[in-house]
Amino acid sequence: MTAPLLELENLEKIYPTGSGQLHAVDGVSLTIARGESLGLVGESGCGKSTLVRVLSRLIDPTAGAIRIDGQSIGDIPARRFGTHTERKRIQVVFQDPTDSLNPQFRIFDSIADPLRRLGGKKTRAEVSEAVQEAARITRLPPELLSRYPHQLSGGQKARVGIARAIILRPELLILDEPTSALDVSVQVVILQLLGELRETLGMSYLFVSHDLNVVKLVCDRVAVMYLGKIIECAPVKEIFERPAHPYTKALLSAIPGAGEAARIRLDGEPRSPIDPDPNVCRFYGRCPMGQDICARKAPPLSDLGGHAAACHFRLDQEEVSA
Ligand SMILES: Nc1ncnc2c1ncn2[C@@H]1O[C@H](COP(=O)(O)OP(=O)(O)O)[C@@H](O)[C@H]1O
Ligand SMILES: [Mg+2]
Repeated sequence: MTAPLLELENLEKIYPTGSGQLHAVDGVSLTIARGESLGLVGESGCGKSTLVRVLSRLIDPTAGAIRIDGQSIGDIPARRFGTHTERKRIQVVFQDPTDSLNPQFRIFDSIADPLRRLGGKKTRAEVSEAVQEAARITRLPPELLSRYPHQLSGGQKARVGIARAIILRPELLILDEPTSALDVSVQVVILQLLGELRETLGMSYLFVSHDLNVVKLVCDRVAVMYLGKIIECAPVKEIFERPAHPYTKALLSAIPGAGEAARIRLDGEPRSPIDPDPNVCRFYGRCPMGQDICARKAPPLSDLGGHAAACHFRLDQEEVSA
């Protein structure tokens, strides 16, 4: 067995706050195989971006391991990782292409920037050639390279964000809600482009989104996050056809077009991420299936035939054990 491209083991990020310890990422273990696209979904505030920032080593984890190709990168301090050789292997496309591009830089320089910082010594001609190639494969018209971000449309800026992320030919591309700032019609085109790039460049994706429909288009597997924890992880078809966790089922029922009758309303307040009780299920209080045991024993993430879920009352259990 070859090692997975990315391996997270019990990853934690805790922020001390005035009112206690905020568990933004709380014991996350995940793997991504070479060439695989893993979706990460969950509502706003559940810890998706924190996980992205920790694993792309913009911030340091509080605990746990991050390995790429079996090699540990979790203990390289974030302030040193920016210039570390391993940095090339992981690149991030951020949510808002407007925020992530320097308004003072011409598009050419934005795309060239990672190459100049991490690509080793390159002649001007080599940089220019690499930028043009990145623009070509992301279908960014070459005449835009001399312009500034404010002169580009949202879709064009999204292409620039992708072009600069792939110029170093990363093995893992992390996409944090890459299309959520775009119009729906533009979204579709960008998602198609990302699908093609994964094949032609042989990259793995960690695709973060709050939109399950988007994840369905571009992912092989899906991990569902709730209050800092992965509560379900399975192939995309399994998630859609046989969700095991009540929260996943509620997310699916909220997809537009799922039908009003099928909609599961979640009542009750979400639990706080500050000093959460380790013995209480994070979904307790909001879960339509919650029982006493859920307040006494937090369900572990248990894997049944490649479908992992953290619930005492898995919705797919009878079918799996039958
Ligand atoms: N720098 C920080 N300091 C304190 N709390 C933070 C910080 N960054 C994020 N958080 C908290 O961590 C939790 C997860 O946030 P985030 O990762 O941005 O979620 P998501 O991307 O899923 O919306 C939230 O409760 C958020 O308020
Ligand atoms: Mg986020």
